[in-house]
Amino acid sequence: MTTGNNQSQITIIVGTQWGDEGKGKITDFFAGQSDYVVRFHGGNNAGHTVIVEGDVYKLHLIPSGVLYDRPISIIGNGTVIDPCALIKELDKLKTRGVNPRLKISYRAHVIMPYHIAVDEGLTGHQGALAAGSTKRGIAPVYADKMYRHGIRMIDLLEPEIFHEKLEKSYSFNVELVNKVLGVEFDTPMDDIYQDYIQYGARLKEYLTDTSLELGQALKAGKQILFEGAQGLSLDVDHGIYPHTTSSNMVAGHIAVGAGLTVRSIDRIIGIAKAYVSRVGISPFPTELGETEAKVLRDKGGEYGTTTGRPRRVGWLDLVQLRQAVRVNGLTELTLTKLDILSGFEKLPVCVAYEARGKRLEEVPASLELYRQAKPVYKTFAGWDELTPDQINSMIQAGFKGLPQAMQNYIRFIEDVLNCPISIISLGPERHQTIVR
Ligand code: GDP
Ligand code: IMO
Ligand code: MG
Repeated sequence: MTTGNNQSQITIIVGTQWGDEGKGKITDFFAGQSDYVVRFHGGNNAGHTVIVEGDVYKLHLIPSGVLYDRPISIIGNGTVIDPCALIKELDKLKTRGVNPRLKISYRAHVIMPYHIAVDEGLTGHQGALAAGSTKRGIAPVYADKMYRHGIRMIDLLEPEIFHEKLEKSYSFNVELVNKVLGVEFDTPMDDIYQDYIQYGARLKEYLTDTSLELGQALKAGKQILFEGAQGLSLDVDHGIYPHTTSSNMVAGHIAVGAGLTVRSIDRIIGIAKAYVSRVGISPFPTELGETEAKVLRDKGGEYGTTTGRPRRVGWLDLVQLRQAVRVNGLTELTLTKLDILSGFEKLPVCVAYEARGKRLEEVPASLELYRQAKPVYKTFAGWDELTPDQINSMIQAGFKGLPQAMQNYIRFIEDVLNCPISIISLGPERHQTIVR
């Protein structure tokens, strides 16, 4: 099977770990059967990779359904948009012959140059409590949204309102950057104003009320696929706060971030890597020491899709996944990168943490406890290194063709989590996927 068969009207794909689980690959897998593919939170901090017949696409804001003609790509109101970055992403796709059928919410907030400057300064200010941001301006733009002096995409089409709001947002942020954070920022407001009016003119054709369109699509029986960014441990409410991003990626957030009712959700698919990777700063209970980490990092190509930073890597953490299953209400899991886990003699899986002499089955709210959390492992026998031919045969044969040790690993995870693993990914290409 080269594409996902999906009868559900609303399907949500979410990350269950620290991002980079392979959401882009699996979104693309289902997108050919969808009428809409929707991003509902986050911005170009995300980097989603889709590989089709050797062609690699790295998407940041444009949903991963864009390689198919059928779906309309929606960038919902809960996202934050750097218009300059978005225009570059669009242009790059167009030069490769991809013409997105894109619609962008009027209500999405706009990342301004001073947000990026604030983000630069924040990491230094936050010190050990920083998350290691991608420096795309994400925290500052969401903060301005909550302060209620944020700028929305529709404002770029209304020059007077835009000017009125920009004066407030600019003066606030420039004071913050220069005086509190000590980062130099001296771009005149008028230059920013002129640039952003131009961006508005360029993006105007895509702007609309996407909530209304999705509501109508739902009534008309269309198939709607949501593509989460990041992963639950980065969720600003449920993640390892403050080492998180500034948006919510929990599945129920589609109502907020896309303006669509949650009443008709059929499938919520959590994407989990068969091990864990983390780009950025936070405690990481199952993290490998550098020598072991290097082997797994290089084998798995674990370098950030957005920033190119080396990703920290560790063994699979079922405490983390237990929370993701519960909070999202996952109907199923997809396990990715099982091919990368081949050739290891032993595969430890973290089933609980230990801290202050106590066993923890759930992710603690306490940062202090989380910093102290040591993994309790159950160790599995690994499986041999797999050749490309062996992987191809397994994809043909399906689950029963997988090495027995891999089947044991998969069955253990779904038993502990009480959640079926319905899709197994054995390579980055669209077709390297087994549906059980
Ligand atoms: P996302 O942010 O969740 O979309 O994931 P990224 O694209 O940032 O990182 C996932 C990386 O793993 C990308 O390079 C994918 O091409 C790759 N990938 C996804 N699934 C698999 C898989 O099953 N096996 C292998 N080897 N690579 C995969
Ligand atoms: P995708 O969608 C991995 C991490 C950053 C940092 C924290 C806050 O590709 O899975 P931010 O720039 O959002 O303020 O950074 O969140 N982070 C991600 N890590 N994958 C991502 O997205 C990420 N988006 C943000 O590294 O720790
Ligand atoms: Mg990524």
